Parts: sequence; C-alpha cells; structure tokens
Amino acid sequence: MTLLPTPAARPVNPRFSSGPCSKLPGYSLDMLADAPLGRSHRAAVGKAKLKEAIELTRTILGVPAEYRIGIVPGSDTGAVEMAMWSLLGARGVEMLAWESFGEGWVTDVVKQLKLDATVRKAPYGEIVDFADVDFNKDVVFTWNGTTSGVRVPNGDKIPADRDGLTICDATSAAFAMDLPWDKLDVTTFSWQKVLGGEGAHGILILSPRAVERLESYTPAWPLPKIFRMTKGGKLIEGIFVGETINTPSMLAVEDYLVALKWAQGIGGLPALVARAEANAKAVADFIADKDWIANLAVAPETASTTSVCLKFTDPAIKDGAAFAKAVAKRLEKEGVALDAGAYRDAPAGLRIWCGSTVETADVAALMPWIEWAYRAELATQA
Ligand SMILES: Cc1ncc(COP(=O)(O)O)c(C=O)c1O
Repeated sequence: MTLLPTPAARPVNPRFSSGPCSKLPGYSLDMLADAPLGRSHRAAVGKAKLKEAIELTRTILGVPAEYRIGIVPGSDTGAVEMAMWSLLGARGVEMLAWESFGEGWVTDVVKQLKLDATVRKAPYGEIVDFADVDFNKDVVFTWNGTTSGVRVPNGDKIPADRDGLTICDATSAAFAMDLPWDKLDVTTFSWQKVLGGEGAHGILILSPRAVERLESYTPAWPLPKIFRMTKGGKLIEGIFVGETINTPSMLAVEDYLVALKWAQGIGGLPALVARAEANAKAVADFIADKDWIANLAVAPETASTTSVCLKFTDPAIKDGAAFAKAVAKRLEKEGVALDAGAYRDAPAGLRIWCGSTVETADVAALMPWIEWAYRAELATQA
C-alpha cells in the first residue's frame, strides 16, 4: 500500500489539549512579572488584583451588574460542588447529563446528597431535549460537554419565568460561546479552559434569585467552610469582591489577568467566540467530504466549537479503541498534536481543542496530519 507522504506544514503550536488548554498566543512567563508574590492576598495589592479579575470577567462576559461573581477554591469542580451543596434540596431537582462531567454531577446529587432527582441522560453525541425538562425544579446541566463535543445550542428552551434555579457548568463554554445570563442562575467555570489559564480556582456566578435562595434556605446537611457562602442567613458579600474564602494562588490570578487583558485587547467576547468558531470550522471543513471520520455530535447545531470530538467511521478499522489511540500516539510522536485522544470515558476517537487561544492556522495545519496518521495506522492492519 502506498502511504501518504507526511504533510509539508506543521502546526506552530501543537497544544490541542482540552484542559489545561493552550496558553494565549505568544505567552511567556515574563508576562507574570507583576504578580504580587510573597504578599498577602488580603493586602491592598492582592485585593486589587482579585477585584480586577472579577471586574474584567464581568466586562468581557457581559455579566449583568446585579449578578455576583466570586473566585472560589477547587477549580470548576469546587464551584459546581459549592453551588449544588449550598442550593439543592429546597425543591425538586432535575439532573441533565450527556457526558462524563455531567454524569459526575448526577452521581454527587443522587449518591452523596441522596436527593430524589429526576435524571435525564443522553448518549455521547446527543443532548437532552430541554423541552422535556421541568424548569420549576432546580436543573443542573453542563453547557458544553467537554468529553462528547456536544453543547446546548442556546437558552431558548429555558423559560424566563421558571421557578427553579438553573445551575450550569460552563467550564468549556465560558469565553467561547454566548451564555444567556437571564436563563442562568448559577454559572461556573475554571480558568484552565478557554483562556488557557491555570487550574486551582473556579468562578461562580450567581443571579439575584440564586442569592435569594442562599439567604432563605439552609440545607439539611453540614457544609464545610470551603463551601459556605452565607453567615447568619446573609450572603458573605466579600467573597464576590475578591475576599476569597481561603488563600488563592496570586500567580494563577496574575495569569488569569494576563489572559483577560489579552481577551479584551483582541476585541472581547465577540472576538473570542469568532476565534473558536473559526477553529471548529477548520475541522468541519476538513471532515465534510471524508467518509472515514465524522463529528461525534449528531445534530450540527449542538456541535461544540471548543472541544471538537471526532470518531473514525471506516468499517475497515478492526479495533476502534486501539486504532484511535494509535492515531493519537502518532500525532503526538510527530509533535503535531499533543493530548488529542478522546477522553478516557468517551467513545474512541480524537478530541481537538478549538478554544479561543488556539490559532486557526494551527488547526488547519493539523488536519492533513490526521489523515496521514489514519492512513498510516490503517496500513498496519492490512
Ligand atoms: C464540563 C467540565 N466540567 C468540569 C470540569 C472539571 O474542571 P476542573 O478540573 O477545572 O475542576 C471539566 C474539566 O475538564 C469540564 O470539562
């Protein structure tokens, strides 16, 4: 069999991991020189940095002035857990899941909090139909399924006059997709995704209705200090101006600030969204006329523009999982795509991070390499 020659061009930056994601273009550690290291985060300089991070987050994401934004421990996981443990139990709960992170939240609510929740699951590649969901209950869902490459297309099916709260894990959506703030009562994300920041801290955004719940409802279970957002029945407002519950990494905060300023400099949210869309389109254009590879997302309007998941569809492939792993390994060995294998719990395939820090030219340059690696691997089966 004649093998394809290796493509002439290589991605300049081969970092296509879905988290931690690629740093912004031209990133260097020198950019963190202004971090107030060795200083108290409660000193004026530290507090000012934390407040600036909150304010820039609000400006870039267009979060309404009456919503609270807090920096919390434990990355996105910390933010989601804090919200679920503090808010759920006051009324019925619907848990929606279409991939492993959403399933993780289901496990926590059903097995740890032991709530009698309605659980709605869609298989990998599909999404739960929001028309079936009772939004008079509290609803927990993931905006973009990082491990399935499937996202909520918009918030149209979430009623404006719902009685329940919507709790949305937007970790691989925030900064790359438009989020309808009027439809989201709790929104969480981590810095390590679309802006290519560091792990460790999460962002928790609360609507006035979520705050009202926090101030009027006390869960039946104990809450560790790290989850507590109220004192004496009142919101601890300090958390939402940068007085963090415990000590943050000021290095990670500086890194987030650098990313936020880069985002603002290139044109803010519209520019970030456009970059992710252009990246995802570079993949879509490449696979459009191929009969051996396809997007895992079944409905095109639900296809992610950040964590683009691909599956091999060639019937000649004998062991799908081994094949996909071998292709990812070839890409890594050639230095053209690092960490591009599907998530461990997801169907076999590739996952190409297309978030806003990734350059479209790099995604485009990677595509012929995927074909090269596929053909090279197929040849070993002959
Ligand atoms: C949808 C989703 N939720 C939660 C997480 C967990 O995020 P973290 O590790 O930052 O807590 C991830 C990480 O990839 C994710 O993609």
